[in-house]
Amino acid sequence: MSIVVTGATGALGRLVVGELLDRVPADRVAVVVRDAAKAAALAARGVEVRVADYDDPAALAAAFRAGDRVLLISGNEFGRRVAQHTAVLEAAQAAGVAQLAYTGALGGPEADFDLAAEHRATERAVLDSGIPYTFLRNGWYHENYTRELPAVLERGAVVASAGEGRVASAARADYAAAAAVVLTGEGHLNQVYELSGDTAWSFAEYAAEVSAQSGKEVVYEAVPAQQHLAILTAAGMPEGFAAIMVDVDAAIARGRLAGTSGDLSRLTGRPTTPVSEAIAAALA
Ligand SMILES: NC(=O)c1ccc[n+]([C@@H]2O[C@H](COP(=O)([O-])OP(=O)(O)OC[C@H]3O[C@@H](n4cnc5c(N)ncnc54)[C@H](OP(=O)(O)O)[C@@H]3O)[C@@H](O)[C@H]2O)c1
Repeated sequence: MSIVVTGATGALGRLVVGELLDRVPADRVAVVVRDAAKAAALAARGVEVRVADYDDPAALAAAFRAGDRVLLISGNEFGRRVAQHTAVLEAAQAAGVAQLAYTGALGGPEADFDLAAEHRATERAVLDSGIPYTFLRNGWYHENYTRELPAVLERGAVVASAGEGRVASAARADYAAAAAVVLTGEGHLNQVYELSGDTAWSFAEYAAEVSAQSGKEVVYEAVPAQQHLAILTAAGMPEGFAAIMVDVDAAIARGRLAGTSGDLSRLTGRPTTPVSEAIAAALA
């Protein structure tokens, strides 16, 4: 049996595999990727590379073995993910895997925003499959915000339509460490983890921290949803995706991404990375 990570050539997946290789020998780790060339460095370290696209049931049928512990990292093609994830599940079920961990959305069935709909449907499919599961309901990544810092500094403002809402984000690396813990440890079958940062920040606090660290005045520009949509599309974001982002901000305003259950730091055994650290890393 192997510990198998799908989406292993993505940003989160690479970090998960790195965490696994810190914990177990490389010959216990396998990855399922759609492009073997992107996994060449992992293969060189002794990780088994299995090639399968979420859209290719025939290839997926050969991607898992009986007893594997599998992390299904959710895909990034919005609108297509339920079918893709279901195809992975069916292959995992047919192979007889021992564990299926899935990276869903903070709140699970309570996550009532558009982006979470496919995660809710996938969790239902996992439950229906009868495979022993671990739900890793990931909150927001710090990096969703820090990657926008060049534009924020240029505008002198953090623009959002989240009102006074707060975000309990954590670093991708924190979520990766938690995934490695549930894949290598015991006691995580049929468990649900609400993973988020230890503290939730407001956009005004985030802007103040960026100001303090950059030495440039940055304010929180709270805008209504329609204006936010117009700003994002004017900046070149496709309208469908911009609408999803605005809907996320509405969810933040309703408190949907502010939960601080402590599950993430409990699993990893360390405090989550403060957003100030992520800002410092991005500014450096
Ligand atoms: N919690 C958050 O804040 C947050 C933010 C963004 C996304 N997410 C979710 O978390 C997931 C992981 O985040 P991330 O930052 O690692 O995203 P990412 O870098 O976009 O990684 C997505 C991974 O999914 C793989 N993938 C996509 N479609 C596939 C397909 N049809 N067949 C096989 N593999 C496929 C990609 O493969 P390639 O390497 O070949 O491209 C990639 O490895 C995302 O996909 C998304 O569902 C969460």
